[in-house]
Amino acid sequence: MAYDKQQATHEFTLWSESYDRCILQWLLFGPSHRALIRRIRAVAGDRPVRILDVGCGTGVFAARIRAELPAARVCGIDLVSGMLAKGAERWRRHAGHVLPVQADSERLPFAAGTFDFVTCANSFHHYPRQDRAVAEMHRVLRPGGRLMLIDGYRDAPWGWFIYDVCVAGVEGAVHHASARRMRALFDQAGLRGVRQRVHRGPAPFLLTEAEAIESVSAIHPPHFRVASPAPGREAVS
Ligand SMILES: C[S@@+](CC[C@H](N)C(=O)[O-])C[C@H]1O[C@@H](n2cnc3c(N)ncnc32)[C@H](O)[C@@H]1O
Repeated sequence: MAYDKQQATHEFTLWSESYDRCILQWLLFGPSHRALIRRIRAVAGDRPVRILDVGCGTGVFAARIRAELPAARVCGIDLVSGMLAKGAERWRRHAGHVLPVQADSERLPFAAGTFDFVTCANSFHHYPRQDRAVAEMHRVLRPGGRLMLIDGYRDAPWGWFIYDVCVAGVEGAVHHASARRMRALFDQAGLRGVRQRVHRGPAPFLLTEAEAIESVSAIHPPHFRVASPAPGREAVS
């Protein structure tokens, strides 16, 4: 049976309690966040940039961006309000620079061209319609902006065992896309200059990155009414 958003909500509402303390923070999430920050810095230096982090969870990555790239503004979206709520203290600490919004990766509540970077770390395998999510991420990037997406690398035997056997055994029918499939999704969404890098380690992961083209809204018109986020309303207390 295909993994769906109700399952994701159930899983992460339960997991939110212990999420920030789990061993994956050390094995996978921390290293993947550092890889993304290195890439953002390599592209943008210390310039002020607007970053959308899709599937932001409890905001650990957003807080790391603030520590490493103080001029950045980060908006984090997550499907599961329990995950956002668990990060309340973190969101409060960085208020004014970081904004949590409850939303679905397949329907991003932002106008086209809003962000310089869209990041997505360790979340993509939960999306039932990965093609829609990539199209949405592309739509909200400004022309020349970058999508940087990290997820478990399942093409090598060790990665296959971790993600397709162990993780899928615990989470159900999640889908870690192969490098080839990820590239095809990026190409299909009209992103250009796709590059991929495998990070080997105890939990290998794949970083796929590409640039947004000039007139993306012609390719991916929003399939919902765009509402500007009202900061007071989404802030999680
Ligand atoms: C393993 S956590 C990763 C959190 C964070 N990106 C990190 O690296 O620490 C996956 C996150 O994806 C979120 N998620 C799952 N399905 C989603 C969807 N359709 N749209 C947005 N977020 C989703 C979950 O609620 C969860 O917070």
